[in-house]
Amino acid sequence: MKLNLENKNIKENEIFSKDYQKKITEITKKLHNPDHSEGTTWVDWPVNYDQKEFAKIQKLAKHITQTASALLVVGIGGSYLGAKAGIDMLTQKNSRFEIVFAGINFDYSDLAQKLDQLKSKDIYVNVVSKSGTTVEILSTLNIVERFLKNKYKNEYKSRMIITTDKNNGYLRQKANKEGIETLCVPDFMGGRYSVLSAVGMLPFACAGINIKRIMDGAVDAFHEFSNEQVQNNLAYQYAIYRNLVYKKLGKKIELFSSFSSKLTSFELWLQQLFAESEGKDEKGMFITPLTFSTDLHSVGQFIQQGSPIVAETFLTVKTPEKDTQLTNIALDSPIKFLDGKSMSEINLAAQTGTIRAHREAGVPIAIIEIDEISDYNFGYLVYFFEIACGTSGYLLGVNPFNQPGVEQYKSYMKELLKTNS
Ligand code: PA5
Repeated sequence: MKLNLENKNIKENEIFSKDYQKKITEITKKLHNPDHSEGTTWVDWPVNYDQKEFAKIQKLAKHITQTASALLVVGIGGSYLGAKAGIDMLTQKNSRFEIVFAGINFDYSDLAQKLDQLKSKDIYVNVVSKSGTTVEILSTLNIVERFLKNKYKNEYKSRMIITTDKNNGYLRQKANKEGIETLCVPDFMGGRYSVLSAVGMLPFACAGINIKRIMDGAVDAFHEFSNEQVQNNLAYQYAIYRNLVYKKLGKKIELFSSFSSKLTSFELWLQQLFAESEGKDEKGMFITPLTFSTDLHSVGQFIQQGSPIVAETFLTVKTPEKDTQLTNIALDSPIKFLDGKSMSEINLAAQTGTIRAHREAGVPIAIIEIDEISDYNFGYLVYFFEIACGTSGYLLGVNPFNQPGVEQYKSYMKELLKTNS
């Protein structure tokens, strides 16, 4: 992975200042404190993960893929976005085994369509909820259980796997009472930091992704990004850079932009990771995921000439998975000059041109480049961003591992439903 933070308004010596180094030394201690009770179990997870559970996931996935052709994953927020990011980044849309996501809203039309699509297939259901109390999940489960019962009669419970807290919550009690198979969301690991646990690993393994390679990437990232010296740690450099972009340059929005559709869901995971970790105490940058060229034709105008409130982080991939050339372009075509050019060359030119234009418009730009899309790089990138985000939150002076503001809509919603019943 390469990180480019060249910016005319943020100098290298600011990132490498003694003041930041002092703060980072303290943050390193906090992140690596073996008592993970602040929510940092994910920090040494790549080297301390539960190997027995990992083997159980591999065994379960083997059984599921041999006896079914789809897995319905019911989860929301951190119990959904990381898994969706990995599936969309690392699998092909037409693969033999399908992963379908539900539980992400109360829109029954959406769920009905998904269940309809699954009715003639053999399926398993993976319900994912750390708290085991999330209303979207329990409501969806109610409907999905009815669907499973109709399909598999008395056998339906053997088609379910519940991923939840190891001791607490309604779903844990339900699984214990009804003898449903379970996997664990580790203690002190919030949803948005949980993708490398069973939360992401069961769907990944079922989709044929090499989860061992994902962990290899995360292990290498763990060793690189545990180094407390800012000079030697790209995750810390990026966190400090973001802090300067927010505090010194006053930017209020960070765009995560890429030129690859395979990264769109990954950017949505990043949106939650940073927004839920930093958006508190009236602080933090609002995160907007963008996929170009599509979004150049919608918000490109604003980035170029609108209110100067945005910073932009580009995620770029050096070698695309697939490529082809444009050939036999008609003489009178306005794109005749592209004859013989490959799509990757054109995409790269669009990317380089966009970065240049946005830079010239005064947008602070960070570029994070990976060689290729791979299982290994997914694990590596996830870990890089988790460390960058936790660090960035601490630099901002907030607790990056809670989310008290998510509760308010739930209590209003419950009030409304109780009043109307
Ligand atoms: O990151 C988080 O902690 C949240 O986004 C949760 O993942 C989300 O609210 C779903 O919660 P749960 O897994 O308890 O159902």
